[in-house]
Amino acid sequence: MLRFVTTNEGKLREAREYLGAEAEVRQLDFDTTEIQADDIATVAAHSAREAYEHVDEPVIVEDSGLFVDALAGFPGPYSAYVEDTLGIERVWHLAEMEDDRSASFRSVIAYCDGEGFAASPEPVDTERRGPDQGADERATATTDDQVAAGDIPVKLFEGYVPGEIVAPRGEGGFGYDPIFEHDGTTFAEMDAEEKNAVSHRGRALAKFGEWYQARTQ
Ligand code: IMP
Repeated sequence: MLRFVTTNEGKLREAREYLGAEAEVRQLDFDTTEIQADDIATVAAHSAREAYEHVDEPVIVEDSGLFVDALAGFPGPYSAYVEDTLGIERVWHLAEMEDDRSASFRSVIAYCDGEGFAASPEPVDTERRGPDQGADERATATTDDQVAAGDIPVKLFEGYVPGEIVAPRGEGGFGYDPIFEHDGTTFAEMDAEEKNAVSHRGRALAKFGEWYQARTQ
């Protein structure tokens, strides 16, 4: 059994859709200290260690953000705070003033079970997903590495999806979904299966699921 440390029902739903076959995913409603860092991997790794120490069972933590290219990656690691304070309409209005409205969602899954990891030469999944992902080198910048810092090892899996910021459309999903368009459709216009097939979280979950299955066999 795997504990997913989140209070976000949308994320939990997506993880279950994706990992259903590989793992029984149970929600762990535990308030980790979300450290201020301008790198979502650092935030996720810190939270995973803290949650593992609390529950003493295998845990995953997911940290994600929306990065708008013309706004120097804003809101990035501050996406949750900006969503709560400014709201997604204001983020759309900021992007609307720019000629370049390209953006990306990024996701990092941090896994911790208190054990070390054998040095793993594999990138678990280096294939790109989606028609327009080939253009960006960052899609292959996997962080499928052991994080050396700290005493408890954490393994990281990264996902990335490119898109554009648009005026809000669609009723589904959560967070910034209505203003993020991928391949002509906003995430809020997709059902969970369609979104998982292309999303940052889907990609990170796919990498994690494959690795986790091998680990638990
Ligand atoms: P956190 O990872 O829970 O800190 O969330 C980061 C922020 O990004 C929150 O405001 C989420 O609503 C938003 N976010 C993360 N993933 C998605 C997504 O798939 N769609 C829309 N918003 C997202």
